[in-house]
Formats: sequence, structure tokens, C-alpha cells
Amino acid sequence: MTEQYSGGYSTQIIDQFKQRTFSKQGAFLQSYLSAGLTVLDCGCGPGSMTLDIAELVNPGQVFGIDSSPIQVEQALLMQKERAIINASFTYGSAYSLPYADEQFDVVFAHAVLYHLQKPEQALAEFFRVLKPGGLVALRDACHSGDMMMPLNTELTAVWDTIEKVFSYQGGNIYFGSQHKQLLLKQGFQNIKVSCSYDTFASDVEKDSIRSYWHQFLNADHRQLILAEQWLTVTELEQQFKALDQWCANPASFFARARCEAIASK
Ligand SMILES: C[S@@+](CC[C@H](N)C(=O)[O-])C[C@H]1O[C@@H](n2cnc3c(N)ncnc32)[C@H](O)[C@@H]1O
Repeated sequence: MTEQYSGGYSTQIIDQFKQRTFSKQGAFLQSYLSAGLTVLDCGCGPGSMTLDIAELVNPGQVFGIDSSPIQVEQALLMQKERAIINASFTYGSAYSLPYADEQFDVVFAHAVLYHLQKPEQALAEFFRVLKPGGLVALRDACHSGDMMMPLNTELTAVWDTIEKVFSYQGGNIYFGSQHKQLLLKQGFQNIKVSCSYDTFASDVEKDSIRSYWHQFLNADHRQLILAEQWLTVTELEQQFKALDQWCANPASFFARARCEAIASK
């Protein structure tokens, strides 16, 4: 099966990534950044965190790379809006980075490796482009730590479908817990592991995640789900209903577990 990024590029999904900030999602790396560093943000998406990093390391340079020209276009728009000059964005793959050996002080990859069929190949590229002593910083989902509350059999079934789609496209929703093992294998040292949560508890946050999964299961992957006969149309509709009911419940919340790792070359 050829790898295909399962996240999709709908406005809804991109808008959600635009809300991410380095001070929140990148907090585990923040104390390691200082003015003058050269940073790569691999799989930068629409670039909100890349631009936050640019502000932190100014006058150091930040390079954002993404396999999707749609994301690069969004990042360039945001860069213009925020008038940041020490960042640049390029279209390209984590598997074959268009950068020289030992170019970067830091390589950051947020919510990227868990989508990849060959994360070890991306890590080998991160190792190559890092200066000796440079840092790699990873943050990825690990579904075994998630809390979708109150959980019931219908919601467990929704997650079953999400997992099937992810795996089919080459990803792994449990990937975060493998950081340490893969970094060691790649020759990285001084590995520090931490975990944190992205929480969706207010009505607005819950609705954003509800529509994210609707988009993922319906608009982006409906045909695949039905063609692979993982669900019937009726069962798929029941899963949307389960998400809607979860969202409408005043007591519900979702806490998405993220594994984090920082290591040096
Ligand atoms: C879940 S998004 C995360 C975006 C951003 N890092 C963030 O957290 O907001 C994953 C991004 O990785 C990109 N991507 C997927 N496969 C890639 C690859 N092989 N090389 C580079 N980027 C890739 C996708 O296009 C997408 O923009």
C-alpha cells in the first residue's frame, strides 16, 4: 500500500491546525530554543508553530517543509500576515530532505511521524541534517492514552474505524509510545520523554473536534470505509450520531494524549 497522508486538507482541518501555538503544543521544546538557532519544522502544516519558532530564534532562520503544496501556500499567507522575515517554506518530503548534512541546530516534527509508513527513514534524515549535538524534538499521538469521556461502545467503534483508516494509509495512532525505541535505534542520545494532552472540553473545542472527525470519516474517507466494507452506510451514520451525542453531552470532554521526545545527535 502506497503511503497517503490521511489527515486531508479540508479548510476545516487546516483551520484547526492554524490554532496550534508553539507555546502550547511545543512547550516541551521551548526552553531549548534561543536567539540565533537554525531550526527545521518538518511537516509544518499551515505554519502557525513554525512562525512562533521564528519569533523565538530571531535572527536565526526557520525552515518549514511539508509534502503538501496546499499547506505551504497556507503557511506563506500566514507568514505575510504576521510579517515574519526569518522563516521560509518549501514543499518536499521528510523521507528525502532538500538540505545539506549538519545544517540544523534543531529539527521539530509535530504530529507528523505517526502518519508515516516509514518513520525510521524520516528519523534518519533528521539525523543527517542535524549538526553534531543538535536536537530532534517529536510530538505524536498515542491513542492508548486518550480519554474520550464518557466512553461507550459506540465511541469505541468510532475509534476502531479511525484506526483502520490510519493504518490503511500507512499511519499508526499508537505511534507516540515508540519514540524512544526508534530514536535509540537511529543513534540519538540523551533521550528525554514526556507526555501531555491536547484537551477539548469547552463547547467550541468539542464542536471543533466533532467536525474534524466528521470531515475525516465522511468527506475524506467515506468511500474507503464503505469500499473496504469496514462499515455499512447505516453503521457509519450511527458513528456520526455517536460523535454528535458525545458533543452535545454537557459532561463530555476529549483529552488527546501526545508523547513527546527530545534527543541529541
Ligand atoms: C497532522 S499535520 C501537522 C501539521 C503541523 N506540524 C501541526 O502540528 O500543526 C501533518 C502534516 O505532515 C505533512 N506530511 C505528511 N507526510 C509527510 C512527508 N512524508 N513529508 C513531509 N510532510 C509530510 C502533511 O501534509 C501535514 O501537513
